[in-house]
Amino acid sequence: MKFFVDTADIDAIKELNDLGMVDGVTTNPSIIAKSGRDIIEVTKEICDIVSGPVSAEVVALDAEGMLAEGRKLAKIAPNIAVKVPLTWAGLKTCKTLSDEGTMVNVTLCFSANQALLAAKAGATFISPFIGRLDDINLDGLELIESIRVIYDNYGFDTQILAASIRTANHMSDCAKIGADVATAPPAIIKAMANHVLTDKGLAGFMADIEKAGIKIL
Ligand code: G3P
Repeated sequence: MKFFVDTADIDAIKELNDLGMVDGVTTNPSIIAKSGRDIIEVTKEICDIVSGPVSAEVVALDAEGMLAEGRKLAKIAPNIAVKVPLTWAGLKTCKTLSDEGTMVNVTLCFSANQALLAAKAGATFISPFIGRLDDINLDGLELIESIRVIYDNYGFDTQILAASIRTANHMSDCAKIGADVATAPPAIIKAMANHVLTDKGLAGFMADIEKAGIKIL
Protein backbone atom coordinates (compact mmCIF):
# COMPACT_ATOMS: atom_id res chain seq x y z
CA MET A 1 0.00 0.00 0.00
CA LYS A 2 1.33 3.42 -0.94
CA PHE A 3 1.51 6.12 1.75
CA PHE A 4 0.42 9.62 0.85
CA VAL A 5 0.79 12.32 3.47
CA ASP A 6 -2.25 14.52 4.00
CA THR A 7 -0.64 17.88 4.75
CA ALA A 8 0.97 21.04 3.35
CA ASP A 9 3.46 21.18 6.23
CA ILE A 10 6.78 21.31 4.37
CA ASP A 11 8.97 20.24 7.31
CA ALA A 12 6.75 17.23 8.04
CA ILE A 13 6.76 16.22 4.35
CA LYS A 14 10.56 16.50 4.20
CA GLU A 15 11.05 14.44 7.36
CA LEU A 16 8.83 11.57 6.20
CA ASN A 17 10.10 11.77 2.63
CA ASP A 18 13.70 11.35 3.80
CA LEU A 19 12.59 8.11 5.53
CA GLY A 20 11.00 6.77 2.33
CA MET A 21 7.51 7.02 3.86
CA VAL A 22 6.04 9.37 1.25
CA ASP A 23 4.75 8.02 -2.05
CA GLY A 24 2.69 11.16 -2.63
CA VAL A 25 0.94 14.10 -0.96
CA THR A 26 -2.69 15.15 -0.71
CA THR A 27 -3.99 18.60 0.10
CA ASN A 28 -7.46 20.10 0.23
CA PRO A 29 -8.75 23.67 0.71
CA SER A 30 -8.79 23.29 4.52
CA ILE A 31 -5.16 22.10 4.54
CA ILE A 32 -4.08 24.97 2.26
CA ALA A 33 -5.97 27.49 4.43
CA LYS A 34 -4.21 26.07 7.52
CA SER A 35 -0.80 26.53 5.84
CA GLY A 36 -1.56 30.24 5.42
CA ARG A 37 0.26 30.17 2.07
CA ASP A 38 -0.63 30.77 -1.56
CA ILE A 39 -1.96 27.52 -3.09
CA ILE A 40 0.21 27.66 -6.21
CA GLU A 41 3.37 28.54 -4.30
CA VAL A 42 3.03 25.90 -1.57
CA THR A 43 1.95 23.21 -4.05
CA LYS A 44 4.99 23.96 -6.22
CA GLU A 45 7.27 23.63 -3.20
CA ILE A 46 5.74 20.24 -2.34
CA CYS A 47 6.16 19.04 -5.95
CA ASP A 48 9.85 19.99 -5.81
CA ILE A 49 10.31 17.70 -2.77
CA VAL A 50 8.12 14.72 -3.64
CA SER A 51 8.33 12.83 -6.92
CA GLY A 52 5.00 10.96 -6.51
CA PRO A 53 1.52 12.39 -7.15
CA VAL A 54 0.65 15.63 -5.35
CA SER A 55 -3.09 16.35 -5.15
CA ALA A 56 -4.22 19.97 -5.46
CA GLU A 57 -7.94 20.68 -5.23
CA VAL A 58 -10.07 22.98 -7.38
CA VAL A 59 -12.34 25.49 -5.65
CA ALA A 60 -14.92 26.26 -8.38
CA LEU A 61 -18.26 24.46 -8.30
CA ASP A 62 -19.13 24.51 -12.03
CA ALA A 63 -17.48 22.30 -14.65
CA GLU A 64 -16.12 25.19 -16.70
CA GLY A 65 -14.52 26.82 -13.67
CA MET A 66 -13.14 23.50 -12.38
CA LEU A 67 -11.62 22.76 -15.76
CA ALA A 68 -9.89 26.14 -15.99
CA GLU A 69 -8.56 25.79 -12.44
CA GLY A 70 -7.56 22.17 -13.02
CA ARG A 71 -5.58 23.08 -16.14
CA LYS A 72 -3.80 25.84 -14.20
CA LEU A 73 -2.98 23.49 -11.29
CA ALA A 74 -1.75 20.81 -13.73
CA LYS A 75 0.83 23.28 -15.08
CA ILE A 76 2.53 23.52 -11.66
CA ALA A 77 4.40 20.23 -12.19
CA PRO A 78 4.06 16.94 -14.08
CA ASN A 79 3.24 15.07 -10.83
CA ILE A 80 0.12 17.10 -10.02
CA ALA A 81 -3.12 15.17 -9.54
CA VAL A 82 -6.03 17.58 -9.86
CA LYS A 83 -8.54 16.96 -7.10
CA VAL A 84 -12.22 17.46 -7.93
CA PRO A 85 -15.27 16.84 -5.75
CA LEU A 86 -17.61 13.96 -6.49
CA THR A 87 -20.36 16.03 -8.07
CA TRP A 88 -21.70 15.82 -11.61
CA ALA A 89 -19.56 18.85 -12.52
CA GLY A 90 -16.56 17.16 -10.89
CA LEU A 91 -17.11 13.99 -12.93
CA LYS A 92 -17.32 15.99 -16.17
CA THR A 93 -14.08 17.75 -15.26
CA CYS A 94 -12.50 14.41 -14.36
CA LYS A 95 -13.32 12.97 -17.78
CA THR A 96 -11.91 15.95 -19.68
CA LEU A 97 -8.73 16.26 -17.63
CA SER A 98 -8.13 12.48 -17.74
CA ASP A 99 -8.55 12.51 -21.53
CA GLU A 100 -5.94 15.30 -21.63
CA GLY A 101 -3.50 13.06 -19.73
CA THR A 102 -3.77 14.78 -16.34
CA MET A 103 -4.04 12.65 -13.19
CA VAL A 104 -7.34 13.24 -11.38
CA ASN A 105 -8.22 12.48 -7.77
CA VAL A 106 -11.99 12.43 -7.22
CA THR A 107 -12.63 13.37 -3.61
CA LEU A 108 -15.47 13.47 -1.07
CA CYS A 109 -16.59 9.94 -1.98
CA PHE A 110 -19.04 8.40 0.47
CA SER A 111 -20.65 5.56 -1.51
CA ALA A 112 -19.78 2.65 -3.79
CA ASN A 113 -21.98 4.12 -6.54
CA GLN A 114 -19.99 7.35 -6.45
CA ALA A 115 -16.77 5.33 -6.74
CA LEU A 116 -18.20 3.43 -9.72
CA LEU A 117 -18.99 6.71 -11.51
CA ALA A 118 -15.50 8.09 -10.82
CA ALA A 119 -13.89 4.99 -12.34
CA LYS A 120 -16.11 5.29 -15.43
CA ALA A 121 -15.03 8.96 -15.73
CA GLY A 122 -11.38 7.87 -15.85
CA ALA A 123 -10.27 8.93 -12.35
CA THR A 124 -6.68 8.05 -11.42
CA PHE A 125 -7.66 8.01 -7.73
CA ILE A 126 -10.93 7.77 -5.82
CA SER A 127 -10.86 9.18 -2.29
CA PRO A 128 -13.41 7.55 0.05
CA PHE A 129 -13.49 9.38 3.41
CA ILE A 130 -13.37 6.73 6.15
CA GLY A 131 -13.31 8.94 9.25
CA ARG A 132 -16.22 11.12 8.22
CA LEU A 133 -18.40 8.03 7.67
CA ASP A 134 -17.37 6.67 11.08
CA ASP A 135 -18.27 10.10 12.54
CA ILE A 136 -21.93 9.54 11.57
CA ASN A 137 -22.04 5.91 12.77
CA LEU A 138 -21.52 4.40 9.32
CA ASP A 139 -18.64 2.06 8.50
CA GLY A 140 -15.85 3.71 6.50
CA LEU A 141 -13.84 0.50 6.12
CA GLU A 142 -16.89 -1.32 4.77
CA LEU A 143 -16.97 1.26 1.96
CA ILE A 144 -13.31 0.57 1.11
CA GLU A 145 -14.15 -3.16 0.97
CA SER A 146 -17.12 -2.59 -1.37
CA ILE A 147 -15.12 -0.42 -3.75
CA ARG A 148 -12.28 -2.99 -3.78
CA VAL A 149 -14.75 -5.73 -4.82
CA ILE A 150 -16.37 -3.59 -7.53
CA TYR A 151 -13.09 -2.38 -9.02
CA ASP A 152 -11.67 -5.93 -9.01
CA ASN A 153 -14.84 -7.37 -10.58
CA TYR A 154 -14.37 -5.19 -13.64
CA GLY A 155 -10.62 -4.51 -13.68
CA PHE A 156 -10.91 -0.74 -13.22
CA ASP A 157 -7.50 0.96 -13.06
CA THR A 158 -8.69 3.68 -10.67
CA GLN A 159 -6.70 3.48 -7.44
CA ILE A 160 -8.50 3.43 -4.11
CA LEU A 161 -7.01 6.23 -2.02
CA ALA A 162 -8.38 5.82 1.51
CA ALA A 163 -8.72 9.29 3.04
CA SER A 164 -9.96 10.89 6.25
CA ILE A 165 -7.76 8.44 8.17
CA ARG A 166 -8.04 9.14 11.88
CA THR A 167 -6.20 6.28 13.59
CA ALA A 168 -3.11 4.14 13.07
CA ASN A 169 -5.43 1.10 12.98
CA HIS A 170 -7.16 2.59 9.94
CA MET A 171 -3.84 2.25 8.10
CA SER A 172 -3.40 -1.49 8.75
CA ASP A 173 -7.12 -2.11 8.18
CA CYS A 174 -6.90 -0.40 4.77
CA ALA A 175 -3.80 -2.43 3.92
CA LYS A 176 -5.63 -5.67 4.86
CA ILE A 177 -8.54 -4.79 2.59
CA GLY A 178 -6.20 -3.92 -0.26
CA ALA A 179 -6.58 -0.15 -0.63
CA ASP A 180 -4.01 0.97 -3.19
CA VAL A 181 -3.10 4.09 -1.21
CA ALA A 182 -3.89 5.57 2.19
CA THR A 183 -3.41 9.25 2.93
CA ALA A 184 -2.90 10.26 6.53
CA PRO A 185 -1.66 13.25 8.54
CA PRO A 186 2.02 12.98 9.59
CA ALA A 187 1.06 12.33 13.23
CA ILE A 188 -0.90 9.20 12.28
CA ILE A 189 1.97 7.82 10.18
CA LYS A 190 4.34 8.39 13.12
CA ALA A 191 1.85 6.83 15.56
CA MET A 192 2.06 3.58 13.58
CA ALA A 193 5.50 3.03 15.18
CA ASN A 194 4.15 3.11 18.74
CA HIS A 195 3.63 0.03 20.89
CA VAL A 196 3.47 -0.08 24.68
CA LEU A 197 5.41 -3.37 24.73
CA THR A 198 8.20 -1.82 22.64
CA ASP A 199 8.51 0.99 25.23
CA LYS A 200 8.38 -1.49 28.12
CA GLY A 201 10.91 -3.83 26.51
CA LEU A 202 13.31 -0.98 25.79
CA ALA A 203 13.05 0.29 29.38
CA GLY A 204 14.00 -3.22 30.60
CA PHE A 205 16.99 -3.39 28.25
CA MET A 206 18.13 0.08 29.34
CA ALA A 207 18.04 -0.95 33.00
CA ASP A 208 20.19 -4.03 32.25
CA ILE A 209 22.61 -1.99 30.11
CA GLU A 210 23.06 0.42 33.01
CA LYS A 211 23.53 -2.38 35.57
CA ALA A 212 26.06 -4.31 33.46
CA GLY A 213 27.82 -1.19 32.15
CA ILE A 214 27.48 -2.43 28.54
CA LYS A 215 29.14 -0.10 26.02
CA ILE A 216 29.49 -0.48 22.25
CA LEU A 217 31.32 2.74 21.39
O1 G3P B 1 -7.81 14.79 2.29
C1 G3P B 1 -9.07 14.74 2.82
C2 G3P B 1 -9.22 14.01 4.11
O2 G3P B 1 -8.13 13.26 4.44
C3 G3P B 1 -9.85 14.79 5.19
O3 G3P B 1 -9.75 14.20 6.45
O4 G3P B 1 -9.94 14.23 8.90
O5 G3P B 1 -10.74 16.21 7.57
O6 G3P B 1 -12.01 14.07 7.54
P1 G3P B 1 -10.65 14.70 7.69
